[in-house]
Amino acid sequence: MSVRLGDIAPDFTADTTQGPVHFHPWKEGQWAILFSHPKDFTPVCTTELGAVAKLIPEFTRRNTKVIGLSVDPVESHHRWEGDIADVTGHAVTFPMIADPDRVVATLYDMIHPNASDTLTVRSVFIIGPDNRVKLSLTYPASTGRNFDEILRALDSLQLTASYSVATPADWQQGDDVIIVNSVSDDEAVTRFPKGFVTKKPYLRVTPQPNT
Ligand code: BEZ
Repeated sequence: MSVRLGDIAPDFTADTTQGPVHFHPWKEGQWAILFSHPKDFTPVCTTELGAVAKLIPEFTRRNTKVIGLSVDPVESHHRWEGDIADVTGHAVTFPMIADPDRVVATLYDMIHPNASDTLTVRSVFIIGPDNRVKLSLTYPASTGRNFDEILRALDSLQLTASYSVATPADWQQGDDVIIVNSVSDDEAVTRFPKGFVTKKPYLRVTPQPNT
């Protein structure tokens, strides 16, 4: 079964590099990013784990916990952590799930048999404080992810969770945002005191409300 946007993220208990994790209580009240990589001691994965490790202070600033997953065992994850620090200069300080029986991978549909019968694809799930899935993406083994983009998407998700706005293509923190169409012009005047510009009746932009 696939996990879709708006679904409750499946709960699980799993062994990780930081001991057993019971997912929902572990992230209680916080955002979480659950991401899978195909295999330990592989080149693209090594660069990805280093990239995530470097961004941990940014995720923490956004009240967001990060947890990785592959089908390799905990001892292998621990041995690989040394290589990741060597190559990227960033120590892995977040837990990595060991999922040799593919229990979590199956719950989250991270094995795509027409890509590989045995390895997880590169999945990302951003999960809200309410445990609902806010974003998911899937990359193949050969394409490393852009974790700055995942951070950018997280910023959008957190902003749009608090204000009746959406973010345009390539939006970055501080850029103008779009007022959602369920807000009337009259309401927009009071809700967006910085003002707004009507480019089309369905496209009204306003300065980012929380900056
Ligand atoms: C990699 O991380 O480089 C990789 C992992 C699995 C298959 C192919 C590449």
